Amino acid sequence: MGVLPTEEKKIFLNKLEEIRQKALEHPEEFWDEHARALDWFKQWDKVLDDKDKPSYRWFVGGKINASYNALDRHLKTWRKNKVALIWEGENGEVKKYTYRDLYVEVNRAAELLKNFGVTKGDRIAFYMPMIPELPIFMLAAARIGAIHTVVFSGFSSDALAKRINDAKAKLLITADGGFRRGKVIPLKEIVDKALDSTISVENVIVVKRTGTKVNMVEGRDFWYHELIEGIPRNVYVEPERLDANHPLFILYTSGTTGTPKGVYHSTGGYLVWVYWTLKWAFDPHDDDIWWCTADIGWITGHSYIVYAPLLHGLTSLMYEGAPDYPAPDRWWSIIEKHGVTIFYTAPTAIRMFMRYGRKWVDMHDLSSLRLLGTVGEPINPEAWEWYYEVVGKKRCPIIDTWWQTETGGFMIAPAAGIALPPLKPGSATFPLPGVDADVVDEDGKPVPPNTRGYLVIKKPWPGMLLGVWGDLKRYVDTYWSRFPGWYYPGDYAMRDEEGYFWILGRADEVLKVAAHRIGTMEIESALVAHPAVAEAAVVGKPDPVKGEVPLAFVVLREGYEPSRELEEELINLVAENIGPIARPAGIVFVRKLPKTRSGKIMRRVLKAIVRGEDVGDITTIEDRSALEELIEMFKS
Ligand code: WT7
Repeated sequence: MGVLPTEEKKIFLNKLEEIRQKALEHPEEFWDEHARALDWFKQWDKVLDDKDKPSYRWFVGGKINASYNALDRHLKTWRKNKVALIWEGENGEVKKYTYRDLYVEVNRAAELLKNFGVTKGDRIAFYMPMIPELPIFMLAAARIGAIHTVVFSGFSSDALAKRINDAKAKLLITADGGFRRGKVIPLKEIVDKALDSTISVENVIVVKRTGTKVNMVEGRDFWYHELIEGIPRNVYVEPERLDANHPLFILYTSGTTGTPKGVYHSTGGYLVWVYWTLKWAFDPHDDDIWWCTADIGWITGHSYIVYAPLLHGLTSLMYEGAPDYPAPDRWWSIIEKHGVTIFYTAPTAIRMFMRYGRKWVDMHDLSSLRLLGTVGEPINPEAWEWYYEVVGKKRCPIIDTWWQTETGGFMIAPAAGIALPPLKPGSATFPLPGVDADVVDEDGKPVPPNTRGYLVIKKPWPGMLLGVWGDLKRYVDTYWSRFPGWYYPGDYAMRDEEGYFWILGRADEVLKVAAHRIGTMEIESALVAHPAVAEAAVVGKPDPVKGEVPLAFVVLREGYEPSRELEEELINLVAENIGPIARPAGIVFVRKLPKTRSGKIMRRVLKAIVRGEDVGDITTIEDRSALEELIEMFKS
């Protein structure tokens, strides 16, 4: 696609630049105007309060409710009987909820939560499969001002317990089990194990999904279907008039230390952000069928399966199961069956489907599609081209959205809703209005075109995280200290001579495995808990489908010998501690790890070895012979 044609460039840049300029030069005016797209109970007194920066607060004094904006306000319009949610089960079962249906179920669920004594500010943990009760309970929590914390159902009981303990959740909502490739994942059993090491959870609500036999603890655990029966369909729960900065949810994500951090978001600023970013990037229409394939256990699902589509009154599709079950055409069959018009997924999925071959795509009529989206990791040009040609038939622009759990919504993405720039495979193009992004060197100086640097965001934006739950210091240290005054996302990036942004992957010790974020330190702490392990270092090894996979280097304690069994044991230990997504692809037993003379593990060197690259400057290394052994090992 090459260089921008001058005319086109002008039109595009003018339109986008005009809005971008306004947003950056007069942010308060800009957001004062844009926030009115939502329904507020009370208007804000101040658009942006920066007196406690970097704990910025947006729309201070404003009162709002997420559930009201997602549901109630559509009931006053023709959208009342429009389908809000299409759900497809892994077994092919389909359920549709109109806005009115969702409203009824959310009110009932909110009443149920109140009956458990849940009140404003209480935390509710979710450990659920992709079933309608998940968004229903999220919205019910939001309705009464309870803070939801959804834990991805692929995490282990240990990981679940850690998150419950950090959030001090009072109530847990789960299901008997979840379907995955026709098999049942015993969610309630995992919950029972987790609850052995928590004290805050008083009650558990269990949704029946798989019919699996579960152990119900008398007085603690209750079946949802039994409770809900007693709640009339016309029950109305008044939506709480919440402060704009009342936390809507906590979502745990991996960082560079051993413990995940509880990123928490506001109600007002977050809703404004997801509303506008969806509008700008994907230009949604009322007749769209929007499908975001993420799991609601991640931010992508929170923002773009639940909140943003419902704020817009769109029809949002939600699929329960595995992408290639029972056959590799499952996703394409869903697009055809439901007439999906906008499809949003991750590069890792595209690469998996490339491997299955285009025949599975070609079996289906995908002519309903008009836009495609991608997120989660850099998209390689081969995957981009395949997506564009085979799925989109060269008709559908690809909206590559760069953002993070912390940013709440899209940050850098082609603005199809303003003016679509000519696309370049692998570039997320330009920052959206209100995003002051730049690429800088170690010292914070902007780097020249086509040079790798660190991505930074120089101004606050409404969707930004409120903080790290219970840990202000970690919030400041992680995001605002690397380049004081600016937000540091932890990514490498580059701009080309036309100003296009190219995200080049993580600049820190965080891996993106099949688009999931996993901290190497988390895996290392799991490994060193084993009696045989003296030291461990985890690095990402390139993988053609998953992008990268964790590979662990392990030094054993005296008296232990490397073996296949021990390798298995260690890999399983990580899966038990964190979840199957963190499972190392292998354990490399080594005599010594490459370290500097001051004792720091040289991960850079390990990374280079794994990638077959030059190890670079190793003048500070403590023991050269150990390094040479390692290089030798990877030669074969
Ligand atoms: C990290 C955030 C945001 C939703 C899903 C992931 C990487 C995300 C892109 C993209 C290149 C991307 C970054 C980012 N990332 N989108 N379009 N191109 N890289 O959320 O788990 O918080 O991960 O994902 O490294 O920092 P997350």
